[in-house]
This record gives sequence, C-alpha cells and structure tokens, in this order.
Amino acid sequence: MPPETPENAHLDNLTLSRKEGLGAMATAPPRKRPELLTRKQKADLSEAALLEYEHERSVWHANIGPLATPQLKALQEDLWDIITSNQQDGDKAKGAIAVDAHPGLGKTTAVLNFALKYHRQVIAREGAFTTAGHERWPVCRVGLTSNIGMKEFNRSLLEYYAHPGRKTGTAALFAQRALDCVLECETRVLIIDDLHFLKWQDKTGTEVSNHFKYIANEFPVTLIFIGVDLANRGLYSEAHARGNITLAQTARRTTPLSMEPFTVSNNRHRIQWRQLLKGLEQRIVLCEAYPGMLAEELTDYLYIRSSGHIGSLMTLINRGCQRAARLGTEVLDQKLLDHVKLDAAAEKARKGLAEKFARGTMTTKPRPSRAKPKKTDG
Ligand SMILES: Nc1ncnc2c1ncn2[C@@H]1O[C@H](COP(=O)(O)OP(=O)(O)O)[C@@H](O)[C@H]1O
Ligand SMILES: [Mg+2]
Repeated sequence: MPPETPENAHLDNLTLSRKEGLGAMATAPPRKRPELLTRKQKADLSEAALLEYEHERSVWHANIGPLATPQLKALQEDLWDIITSNQQDGDKAKGAIAVDAHPGLGKTTAVLNFALKYHRQVIAREGAFTTAGHERWPVCRVGLTSNIGMKEFNRSLLEYYAHPGRKTGTAALFAQRALDCVLECETRVLIIDDLHFLKWQDKTGTEVSNHFKYIANEFPVTLIFIGVDLANRGLYSEAHARGNITLAQTARRTTPLSMEPFTVSNNRHRIQWRQLLKGLEQRIVLCEAYPGMLAEELTDYLYIRSSGHIGSLMTLINRGCQRAARLGTEVLDQKLLDHVKLDAAAEKARKGLAEKFARGTMTTKPRPSRAKPKKTDG
C-alpha cells in the first residue's frame, strides 16, 4: 500500500511562476474535507491522531474555496466567450482582456481557477505533448512585482518555461526566446497578474505598453491582464504623444472586465449574500457548527466586517475557524470573531456600515416581498 500523504502536500513547494507549478495544481485531486467529529469523538482520539486531525482541519480552513460566487461565474463566462472566439486562423491579432478591480475581490482566484480548467480541457482534448513532441502548456502565467521593466518581464516568461537562456541576453533576445517557447508549447493564453506594478507613467511604462502591442501582434495568445486601476494607470491611453497610437490600439483590442464586492441593496443581492454564507457554512469543520451559523446568526455582522469583499470575508472566516479550533469553542460567533483582526480597509469601512445597520437603513436579510392587495368586489 502506498504511504499515506496529506492531500496536495506536493503542491507546497511549487510556485505558480513555473509551468510545473501550474500543471501540478491543475491535476491535483480535490482537497479532501476532514471528517466532522463530535466533541466526544474528538476527545476519544489518541494524541497522535488528534495532532494529525487538527493539522488537517487547519490546512482545510486555510484553503476553503474557490466558491462559485456570481462574480467568479460571470467573469469566467466572459473569459470563455473571448478565448474561444479568439480561435481565428492566421495572422489576426487576438482580442485581449483586462481584469481591472480593487484588491481582494477575487481577480487572481477567478482567473487562476479558469486557467486550471482551460489547461485540463486542452490537455484532455489534445494530449500532454504537441505533434512535434514538445510539452504542451496551454497557459502561461506570470505575476509581476514592483518596478518591473520590459527585460525583467520577458525574463519572467522564460522563467515560467525554465528556458535555459533565461539568465543572459538582451530584452529583445528574451522576447524572441519567449516567442519560441509559446510556439513550441502551443500556449494560447498568457496571464499577466498584478500588472499595476509596472511604472506606466514613465519611459518604462510606454516601452512596456509598446511591448504588449508587440506581444499581441506576434504571439498567438489571448492576453489576460489583471490589475488594480489599470485604466487610470494608462493601459488604454497615455499622455505621451509618441505613445498615443500604440495605446489607442490597445484600447481598441482590449475588453475590460471587472469584479464587484457583494452588495445588499436589494433582495436579489441579499439572497446572493445568503447563498455565499450557506456555501461557506457547509465547508466549515467545527464540532459545534450548525446550519444557519453564518447565514442566519452572523449575516449582518459578517457584512459589516467585510464590506462585502470576498477577500476580507474569507480571511475572517479562516482566522475565526483557526481560533475556534485552537481555543476549543468549536463554533463561530460574534464574541470570537470580534477578536479576529482584519485588513485596514475593512476595519475602516466597518464603523460606517455598523451605524447604517444599527439604524436599520441597511440589512442583509431578504425582506419578504409585499403581498399584492387582494381584489375585493365592489
Ligand atoms: N470565489 C472565491 N471563493 C473563496 N475564496 C475566494 C474567492 N475569491 C477570492 N477568494 C479569497 O479572497 C482572497 C483575495 O482573493 P484574490 O483572488 O487574491 O483577489 P485579488 O486578486 O482581486 O486581489 C484570497 O485569499 C482568496 O482565497
Ligand atoms: Mg491578485
């Protein structure tokens, strides 16, 4: 019998900036939910088994998701539309995509989840190797860090493919090698995450946008840019007179997509919030958890804490579950969650929202639809 290994343990040391990391993630079996035990069953575990159980539960709570939120589903439908329609033959430049939204709304999560599905679909249909015998990598993904210039960007493409020529060369040479990789591996989608780390307003910015035009024209890929405030940073327009034509073309070819926080301004949205909390409830592994723990008891509270931002909500739930397991309270309630610290933006919005909820001008609870007045004769 093969030795028991924790689910997905082999993913721990892999990074998504390498093709092997993305491949391993795409083919990993889904994480297994630890069994939900009663307090009694937990107390009966041996010391070793308890340690193991608590570790499993902790890792599970740290990796809840992705949940199929309406925002994630809508974004992915748009990605499928655009990417499948980009299969025209020949030399036509392909339409690009810019996923542009505030931090913590799930951009990286939604696009990555899409990329993994796309990878699996193409590999299942066309095989792990190309006709010429090269490894097939349908998706290339790079994440940018601050102060990145054109050469570093090209180098990160080569790093993804582990190209032997990634150490030395000029920007142009790196680009040429990256194109070789894309062609050999038949890559069709190129994801560039955290594009806002580019310095758009200076010389490098113009250079880099010219570079993306070059990629869009020469590389047979659909470009997916992800970032914060890309439009205002000059993805589509730029003050430099010299750059105008280039950028205008980018604007014409790039479809902007966005992701919004959850709102609770009408019943439809309140129901979506409730669905989200119900979905989350089902994934929580605490002895005393009960149906309605989040969706009934904590619905307003969780909205006030997170301002409807999925990132803040998931952090709150994750940290809350860790604390409830560690302290042995085994349930999420307001008293426990009040001790959990969150990001500065969420804390800043919290007070104003709490006042609105207290005044009754806001609620997450779907309001019963008003019954139509009955017609009476005469
Ligand atoms: N659909 C989802 N289901 C569960 N968790 C999510 C979902 N979308 C985002 N998250 C969580 O929210 C946090 C922020 O998401 P991320 O994708 O990094 O946002 P962004 O790229 O927009 O800043 C992450 O910790 C992620 O795990
Ligand atoms: Mg991100």
